[in-house]
Amino acid sequence: MLEATLRERARNLLTASGRSDVPPFMVMDVMAAADRIEAAGGHVVHMEVGQPAAPAPKTAISAAHAALDSGRIDYTSALGIPSLRQRIARHYREAYGCAVDAERIVITTGSSGAFILGFLVMFEPGDRVAVTVPGYPPYRHILTALGCEPVLIETSSETRHALTGDALLAAHHRTPLKGVLVGSPANPTGTMMSREALTSLITAAESAGIRFISDEIYHGLDYAFPAVTAAELSPHALVINSFSKYFCMTGWRVGWMVVPEPLVRPIERLQQNLAISVPTLSQIAAEAAFEGREEMEEVKRGYQENRRILITGLPQAGLNKFLPADGAFYLYADVSEFTSNSFEFAKRMLEQAHVAATPGIDFDPVHGHQFVRFSYARSADDMREAVARIARWLG
Ligand SMILES: Cc1ncc(COP(=O)(O)O)c(C=O)c1O
Repeated sequence: MLEATLRERARNLLTASGRSDVPPFMVMDVMAAADRIEAAGGHVVHMEVGQPAAPAPKTAISAAHAALDSGRIDYTSALGIPSLRQRIARHYREAYGCAVDAERIVITTGSSGAFILGFLVMFEPGDRVAVTVPGYPPYRHILTALGCEPVLIETSSETRHALTGDALLAAHHRTPLKGVLVGSPANPTGTMMSREALTSLITAAESAGIRFISDEIYHGLDYAFPAVTAAELSPHALVINSFSKYFCMTGWRVGWMVVPEPLVRPIERLQQNLAISVPTLSQIAAEAAFEGREEMEEVKRGYQENRRILITGLPQAGLNKFLPADGAFYLYADVSEFTSNSFEFAKRMLEQAHVAATPGIDFDPVHGHQFVRFSYARSADDMREAVARIARWLG
């Protein structure tokens, strides 16, 4: 009896909260299987990981070395180092011709940290927030963990996989939405929203009182047409960006937000309490990264060449149905001709052809079993090798 009570008490002390019960990322399983093949002497072409193979710009690395040599690395102010916030404001002028007050820039722990702050400041527990599927899984998982309800809206090829104002308002009329989040260029599809599509979506959202969040982490990696920032289209939008992708600084964990003016102080208070500040060394490196743009443009030209190799090579290898690869470094291929289970397909492709890709089920619980995501962030030789291996395997 006593033992049972103790067991019950221990169970109560150790049970994880319901809201922490978010699904894992399946790509991790693919990575683990790839590691096993490599440990046994095989050579895998890695197209599963969504991160640049290139290092951070040399300017960023030198600035970090110099900061370390100079001694103390202190906290910064919660909103970030003022000169970095000003440098980002200048970036909006130079890259988009858009005036953004540096006071509205908030430095965050990658865009992942920005989602937490952004969702906390914009939504109450129970609020419904629309996200697109296919889409980046942590959007919905972070919302869930914070007690909000993600509302999945499907996109389709008729709209180049962009969410439309009509689809948003239809969902809103079914049950009211408090917010909507979109990314362009998008992960996993690699598709982008045109200026017209983004403008009409923001207009529709704001006219219905739906708060707009724009994930612009893949800005700079646009090939089909220039990416448009929501900061230019509405002072009420919350814009999220990061040094992880264009600047190849994933592990530095530094990003930023452009915040509607009235939300700056509430976000500052949240950041003070949740994190104090973003790692100082990373902020110093991030500011210097802007001086390394030439190096990053070279990296981008590499992605463009990789994209060309895949767009021409994959159809010859047998994979001829994929979404428009407008930006980022992803190609989302429809493999329904070969399988009704993309996880199984990705597993076999890894085991038999030694090409690792991510099954679509991570990004889309409804149609993901038909799709596989290829990341083309590595070398052109890897891309050629992948195309040749897939051709042999499917042939
Ligand atoms: C669409 C999208 N948003 C956000 C992130 C998170 O990036 P980070 O926290 O490194 O800025 C990723 C990472 O892959 C992503 O693909």
